[in-house]
Amino acid sequence: MNDLASVLRPIETASGLPGRCYTEVSAFEEERRELFGRDWFCLAFASDLAEPGDLLPVDVMGTALLLVRTREGEIRCFHNVCRHRGVRLVENPQRGRKSMRCPYHSWTYDLDGRLRATPHIGGVDRHRAPGFCKSKRGLFPVRTGVWLDMVFADLSGEAPALEDWLAPLLKRWRDFPLARYRPAETEPIRFRLEANWKLAVENYCEAYHLPWVHPGLNRISSLSDHYPIVDAAFSGQGSTRYTARGELPCADDSELAEYVALYPNLLLGAHTDHFFAMRLDPLAPDGTVEDARLWCLDDAAAAPAYAEARQRLRARWEEVFREDVDVVERMQRGRRSPAFDGGCFSPVMDTPSHAFHRWAALRLGARQPA
Ligand code: FES
Ligand SMILES: [Fe+2]
Repeated sequence: MNDLASVLRPIETASGLPGRCYTEVSAFEEERRELFGRDWFCLAFASDLAEPGDLLPVDVMGTALLLVRTREGEIRCFHNVCRHRGVRLVENPQRGRKSMRCPYHSWTYDLDGRLRATPHIGGVDRHRAPGFCKSKRGLFPVRTGVWLDMVFADLSGEAPALEDWLAPLLKRWRDFPLARYRPAETEPIRFRLEANWKLAVENYCEAYHLPWVHPGLNRISSLSDHYPIVDAAFSGQGSTRYTARGELPCADDSELAEYVALYPNLLLGAHTDHFFAMRLDPLAPDGTVEDARLWCLDDAAAAPAYAEARQRLRARWEEVFREDVDVVERMQRGRRSPAFDGGCFSPVMDTPSHAFHRWAALRLGARQPA
């Protein structure tokens, strides 16, 4: 029996993922292939490359990718690797570029990834070489799609269409004003965690810790108002009483709020007056960057009249997210202990986090215990 099999037991007797899944480089590499490499994940926010010619290099667990806003305004993604000797092509975000030039031997690619110039490739002043075909040496493309402001990537090229992959969540959220959310004009909320990215997911999935870690939020929406959400590709919790509305325009008088982790790396929150998304960027087994953005309804997203309300909303979520940092980092430290056996779950309160463990364990090759 491999050490992931006990994750698949009924929740009453299941263990969580073992400590090695949070601490070892080999486990991190395996997750890059099995959890991030086979399906859609969130790569970036489209507003970070707003104009044609904007370039945004993004590394995914060490895989160098490059996002480009083309002249037509579309977002394209490529492996950020020169086809000649493999230099990482673009090092920093850039604006208003018409092409990408490799600093090593000056091979130049256009914004669609086509190789356009290969100076002196055939000898001094000979910019062509016999048998070398530029059209076969464009940047390797990566499949992408955009939902709201979130850019998703599929490194395998074989995942279902993005809208099909998102369909179960969009169906669940059909009563939220998804079509009216617009990116709010607020600064990103960013944290650097000394913790594995999965701990941020697991923590986000459950409301169990609310009274102790988020006493302020517990007053707005208390533990007793929460219910679990479990689906095949996401899990989390909802609240029937989100009572902090009033400063921003609402789509309706619903007090429903739902918070789900869309596996692997996106933490989402939907409300009648706003939406947020936190992208998790795993840097190392014990290092993760959280990058969260806000959306508001229609004009409220940008109108000066709502600027202060947007700032207060941002400050409130920043405080809540900060409150989680300490417990998440302490879970990481606990996972280095030889005494940690994967832990266990509350059969009632931890169903969404157990669902995430099951999802990960199955993809990492867990077999049902006999
Ligand atoms: S490695 Fe890029 S031009 Fe040579
Ligand atoms: Fe929390």
